[in-house]
Amino acid sequence: MANWLVTGGAGFIGTNFIHHILSIRQDVTVVNFDLLTYAGNPDGLSMYAGNPRYRFIKGDICDRKQVDAALRDNCIDTIVHFAAESHVDRSILGPMRFVMTNVNGTATLLDAARDYWGREGKDIPGEKRFHHISTDEVFGSLKPDEPAWTEASPYMPNSPYAASKAGSDHLVRAYGHTYGLPVTISNCSNNYGPYQFPEKLIPLVILNAVNGKPLPVYGDGQQIRDWLYVEDHCEAIRLILEKGKPGETYNIGGMNQPANLTIVKTICSLLDELVPDPSFCPHEKLITYVQDRPGHDRRYAMDSTKIKRELGWSPKYTLETGLRKTVEWYLANQDFVQKLTDRSDFKNWMDENYTERGGSSK
Ligand code: NAD
Ligand code: TYD
Repeated sequence: MANWLVTGGAGFIGTNFIHHILSIRQDVTVVNFDLLTYAGNPDGLSMYAGNPRYRFIKGDICDRKQVDAALRDNCIDTIVHFAAESHVDRSILGPMRFVMTNVNGTATLLDAARDYWGREGKDIPGEKRFHHISTDEVFGSLKPDEPAWTEASPYMPNSPYAASKAGSDHLVRAYGHTYGLPVTISNCSNNYGPYQFPEKLIPLVILNAVNGKPLPVYGDGQQIRDWLYVEDHCEAIRLILEKGKPGETYNIGGMNQPANLTIVKTICSLLDELVPDPSFCPHEKLITYVQDRPGHDRRYAMDSTKIKRELGWSPKYTLETGLRKTVEWYLANQDFVQKLTDRSDFKNWMDENYTERGGSSK
C-alpha cells in the first residue's frame, strides 16, 4: 500500500481528488490533513467513514508538530499539497492570512518532509514525492495578443493571493534543487465543478440565480479565465504523480477561454432550461454590474502542450459539458450547499463583498 497525505482534502479540489484516487487507485491509502477553515467541509467525503483506506486528521500545515506526527504516524510516502487560502477577493481584504498559510505553511510542510524522508544532508530515498498544486495566477495577466503561458513564462503575480502562491512555488523548487527533495509542481487554471465553495464565480452565480438574487459581474465582465473542469484536473495530478519527473513543473488548462460575462450568461440559459421558474426567468435579467476588483487581472490562458506530450493528458470536458454537469450537481445537492451558505461567516462575507462593490445586499 502507498500512503498519501493530501493537505486541504476537505476543500473543493482536494475533495474531488480524494474521490478520484480512492476510486481509481486501490493500492493507495489517503490521509486527509485539513484545518477545516471556512472553506473546508468534510461532508463531501462522509461516505468514507470507516473505510480503512481513508483517514481524516484535523491539522494545520503551519504547525510543525502536527505535520511531523501526521507523516510519521501514517508512514507517508507521497504528499499532495492543496491546502491554501484560495480566494483572490479575500486576499485583497486580508493578505496576511495568505502569507501565513500559503508561504509559511508550505515551508513547514517541505521542511517536515525533508526531515522525515531524508534527515539532514543524506539522500532522499526513492519513491517519495511532494506534489505542490499551484495556479496560473503566478504568471500575472496577458494582453489580448500575447500567447498562452508555458512552463517557461516568467512569474509576475499581481494579487496577494497570486504572490503568496508564487512564494510557495519558489520554496518547493528550492527544496528540490538544494536538498534533492523529489518535488513536482502543477500550475492550473480556474477550476469548476462539484463541491466548490460558493464564493467563487460559477457556484455563486448558480446559487444566486436559483434564489432570484443579483448576479454580480465585476467591471465590464470581459475578463478572460481559462476554465478547467475539476475532474480533468484531478486526472492530470494523478498522471503527474504516476509518471511525472521530479523537479518538473506542468501547466494544466481547460482549453476554454470565455469572458466572464459569457460564463454567467451560459449558466443563466442552463437554468432557464433546467429550472424554468417564471418568477426568475430569464435568469439573465438578474445580472448586475458591480465595481471591479482592484488590480483585476484581465486575461489568463494556459498552454498545456507539455503535459499532453509527456504524460498523455488532455481534458475530457468542454465548457458546455462541464458547466451542464456542474449546474446539475448544484441543483441536485442543495442540502449540501445550504449547510455551507447558512453559516453566518459565509453570509457576512457575501454581504460585505457585495456592498463593497456598490451593490445593495438588502
Ligand atoms: P479551497 O479554498 O476550496 O480549499 C482549501 C482547503 O485548505 C480547505 O479545506 C481548508 O480548510 C484547507 N486549509 C486552509 N488552511 C489550512 C491550513 N493552515 N492547514 C490545513 N488545511 C488548511 O481551495 P481549492 O479551490 O480546493 O484549491 C486547492 C489548491 O488549488 C490551492 O492550493 C489553490 O491555490 C490551488 N488552485 C485552485 C484553483 C481553483 O480554481 N480553485 C486554481 C488554481 C490553483
Ligand atoms: P473567481 O471565481 O473569484 O476566481 P479567480 O479570481 O481566482 O479568477 O473569479 C473568476 C472571475 O470572475 C474573476 O475575473 C472575477 C470574476 N467575478 C465576478 O465577476 N463576480 C463575482 O461575484 C466573482 C466571485 C468573481
